Amino acid sequence: MAKKPRIIDGKKVANRMRAEMIGEVAALAKRKITPGLAVILVGDNPASQVYVRMKGKACAEVGVNSFEHRLPKTCTERRLLNLIAKLNADKRVHGILVQLPLPKQINEQKVLNAVDPDKDVDGFHPVNVGKMLNGEDAFVPCTPHGCQELLLRYGYDPAGKHVVIVGRSNIVGKPLAAMLMQKAAGANATVTICHSRTKNLPSITKQADILIAAIGVPEFVKARMVKEGAVVIDVGVNRIEDKSKKSGYRLVGDVDFNGVSKKVKAITPVPGGVGPMTITMLLKNTIEAAKRKK
Ligand code: GUN
Repeated sequence: MAKKPRIIDGKKVANRMRAEMIGEVAALAKRKITPGLAVILVGDNPASQVYVRMKGKACAEVGVNSFEHRLPKTCTERRLLNLIAKLNADKRVHGILVQLPLPKQINEQKVLNAVDPDKDVDGFHPVNVGKMLNGEDAFVPCTPHGCQELLLRYGYDPAGKHVVIVGRSNIVGKPLAAMLMQKAAGANATVTICHSRTKNLPSITKQADILIAAIGVPEFVKARMVKEGAVVIDVGVNRIEDKSKKSGYRLVGDVDFNGVSKKVKAITPVPGGVGPMTITMLLKNTIEAAKRKK
């Protein structure tokens, strides 16, 4: 199939959704509520700095208040937990996001567990993880939610389809599998998770009607690993050296886009695929958290 694939344009969908959110924020303003998101960044990880900046910009775009808290990379766990306790009690703050990864002296799970589940717009608190797995109403993690929304908005309902996810992280692979296997609209998929210890991985990825790459290895998924006519969602964001760029690097996904796109029905680009959707779902969760407040 040498035809050009359909490009699943996350930027376009994200812009449309954000335009809708401006109306929702205006409706909340009539009730004297401005949704507020607190973002905590510990340390100076360059990728995290970019994400945090993009989140602040996106909040401003739709009228969500953004409260940024930067802590040094030597920050103690106690100091971070104290800040979270303060934000849990702060009425202007409806959502709290602790940018990951955290420096190694800090226990990540302990920190995530300290966020009030009602303000956990990342959907990482065990209460929300458990509720989501049980099919109860909960905040769901933004990147998996963004992947699902993209599939649905482009007419690729996962119901009855074999979805193969490459990667088993708590941020993407695991929650995405839990979401897509639910007995619920927009889900009902048959889900397989592959990871670094999977034997004969290409024989499994080749069975996918919908293949989702979230393994964090640049251009890991090659054309020979993909079924003809599959739909491919690339969650990866990897910097690789490129001397022709002013910055000295360029972004690639976990999928070899040029090779794979010759074979598939539809594919997300990197950048401009899942990335813009992640931030959009974060805004959506923050607005939802504000709506829930009396
Ligand atoms: N680091 C990479 N992805 C994410 C995310 O979705 N949320 C947070 N908090 N940190 C991340």
